[in-house]
Amino acid sequence: MARRPFIAGNWKMHKTAPEAAKTAEQLAALVADAADVDVMIAPTFTALEAVRKGIEGSPVALGAQNLFWETEGAYTGEISPPMLVAAGCKYVIIGHSERREYFGETDETVNKRIRAALDHNLIPILCVGESESQREAEKTFSVLDKQIKNGLQGFSLDDLKDLVIAYEPVWAIGTGKTATKEQAQEVHAYIRSLIGDMYAKSLADSLRIQYGGSVKPGNIKELMDMDDVDGALVGGASLEAETFSKIVRFNK
Ligand code: 13P
Repeated sequence: MARRPFIAGNWKMHKTAPEAAKTAEQLAALVADAADVDVMIAPTFTALEAVRKGIEGSPVALGAQNLFWETEGAYTGEISPPMLVAAGCKYVIIGHSERREYFGETDETVNKRIRAALDHNLIPILCVGESESQREAEKTFSVLDKQIKNGLQGFSLDDLKDLVIAYEPVWAIGTGKTATKEQAQEVHAYIRSLIGDMYAKSLADSLRIQYGGSVKPGNIKELMDMDDVDGALVGGASLEAETFSKIVRFNK
């Protein structure tokens, strides 16, 4: 089944609002005619508004890097789903390994965040991936099994029709050590079959699975050539418009 490619940039904790606006405007111009691929950038919360303006009228969509599951209330420092919707977000990244590692994110909180995103029509990008020691101990599939089953607990087939999963092996993030195309394909195929077992073949077939971890203009094409790689979640190489636009235009 042909799935529409989806290339997303996760800007992590980089760029002030003026810096983000500038990159967003450059990117919008560079990918103005990219019609055959979905594109998203997720800046920091303080830059959402500036980026929204910068990408207006372009094919680039806006995403956030996290959300809190309550709608409003006494939760100092948190950002709610309606706030992201009002800021123009279409997507939200959930359960990134950096949040799991540094900010106490668990499969249970991931589950609550996905529920909240879906309740407000935000498309969740669920991030999963094993650490280097887990891979060495041959626990990659069991780790992913747990992250996906627990993260998606309680959702119906219909809930997840737009879900995106990003496979980001922790050992490949920001290290320059990309998974080989064969390693990525093996895990993506596993995730797709797991979703088929948990839900239905129709969802498995339509599910978009992004690869993340040191994706660059020089390796995107061979990754995208793999059957089960439907896109990329790009960190470092998304920070510069020219470089990221080459990843978006992998097919050119
Ligand atoms: P890098 O592309 O910098 O390795 O980061 C990947 C990532 O974590 C995207 O969410």
